[in-house]
Amino acid sequence: MNSPDETDRPHRRIRSFVLREGRLTAAQERALTELWADYGIDYSPALLDLDAVFGRTADRLLEIGFGTGDALAAYAGAHPDVDCIGVEVHRSGVGHLLLKAQAENLRNVKVICHDAVEVLEHQLPAGSLTAIHVFFPDPWPKKRHHKRRLIQPAFVERLLRALKDGGELRLATDWQPYAEHMLAVLQTFPALKNLAGETLYVDRHSERPITRFERRGQRLGHGVWDLAFRKHASA
Ligand SMILES: C[S@@+](CC[C@H](N)C(=O)[O-])C[C@H]1O[C@@H](n2cnc3c(N)ncnc32)[C@H](O)[C@@H]1O
Repeated sequence: MNSPDETDRPHRRIRSFVLREGRLTAAQERALTELWADYGIDYSPALLDLDAVFGRTADRLLEIGFGTGDALAAYAGAHPDVDCIGVEVHRSGVGHLLLKAQAENLRNVKVICHDAVEVLEHQLPAGSLTAIHVFFPDPWPKKRHHKRRLIQPAFVERLLRALKDGGELRLATDWQPYAEHMLAVLQTFPALKNLAGETLYVDRHSERPITRFERRGQRLGHGVWDLAFRKHASA
């Protein structure tokens, strides 16, 4: 596998993450070496043939910033008919998911260890996804860091390009100002219909398990805001 930084250009864009490569467990290191051929997709700035990658034609879900991958693994296990692609920059989380995918014998999971912005820009074909999940993206609470937030108009344009007509975008955050920012950004896209209607936020999706990050927020007394949008056919 190549590293998330290998394709750095001299003038880097503002990123939504800071790579802090903490220590990987021996099992995670082993997974990244031994299981990459089964589950990994190397980043390269070339469009993927997803039918060839998965060996079939199917509905496809993308989860961006999956952390340890528990939500993605749960979804993949519950939906063997859906191909699931996870994108995460931290190798420890990727290793964690690979181990889980092997332990649960998940055949419908593939992982890309790279910046989702570039993956969407270069690797994922237009209209190739039926759903996109972005759960608890880093909130970047300080004003001077707001530009690092993943959910911005240019990023949503990339999401919309990758999403099929009728495809769903689901997001969650435990930071109210970020939830409001997400809503404000998403509502500017006429192609997106808010599935919550006038209540603006949806109930927690029954298929979204509580992740480690969310549990931490709960301990700190944070609320959770879930958002769900559908792309119109007319977009
Ligand atoms: C706050 S954590 C939440 C993780 C997980 N979704 C959860 O709910 O536990 C945000 C994750 O997004 C990842 N991330 C941030 N920006 C990213 C990007 N541009 N591409 C891929 N992953 C990204 C981070 O590495 C981090 O693991």
